[in-house]
Amino acid sequence: MTILFYRRDGGGAGLATLPSGLVFRIWSPGDQGPPPAGSQRASNWTWWLFETLGLFSRPGFREVTIWRDGQLVHRLILTPRWPRFPFMDAYDLQVGDIWTHPGVRGQGLARLALTAVQALTWPEERLWYLVEANNAASVRLAETAGYRLFGSGRRTRPLGLATLGRFRLDAPIAR
Ligand SMILES: CC(C)(COP(=O)(O)OP(=O)(O)OC[C@H]1O[C@@H](n2cnc3c(N)ncnc32)[C@H](O)[C@@H]1OP(=O)(O)O)[C@@H](O)C(=O)NCCC(=O)NCCS
Repeated sequence: MTILFYRRDGGGAGLATLPSGLVFRIWSPGDQGPPPAGSQRASNWTWWLFETLGLFSRPGFREVTIWRDGQLVHRLILTPRWPRFPFMDAYDLQVGDIWTHPGVRGQGLARLALTAVQALTWPEERLWYLVEANNAASVRLAETAGYRLFGSGRRTRPLGLATLGRFRLDAPIAR
């Protein structure tokens, strides 16, 4: 599967005002410690450990969620470099695990969350967004949120195991 590597600079936006009934929550383990109620999924405990043990290239992991009536309707994470993403520089961040509840897709929630990412970051911070080439919704989202195609690549599978794999940027198209 071809992976498209998009990127843009951070910063340049204030936190958007959400439509009524929607609430942003930002979890930053470096500032707030272990995952709070609503964020206690297994992956977040892993990210908390990464941050606590200094396994990222720098501090700065964050989870951005949007809630409606107590229900999670959107989630994404921002991760600094770690070994699965060797093409990143130490100060870069990556938008990952972006997900909107199937019942509310196409209503602009992912776009709002990416606006929050801009508000949480600085122009010096380069943001990456990786997407499988056939994921039309995610490609469209990246492109309309100001990300520019940087190149293409793939995820390696040592011993046939994707979990051990890394994302390799094979063909940069712009510098
Ligand atoms: C990708 C995903 C997060 C988008 O979330 P969303 O909240 O529906 O996105 P938005 O409503 O903010 O839409 C953003 C843009 O994508 C477009 N879009 C949304 N769904 C689309 C689809 N199925 N096909 C093409 N474009 C689509 C929207 O039209 C909008 O562009 P526009 O402003 O030009 O109209 C959501 O589809 C999802 O959770 N998919 C499953 C998980 C996934 O694939 N994550 C991405 C991994 S890289």
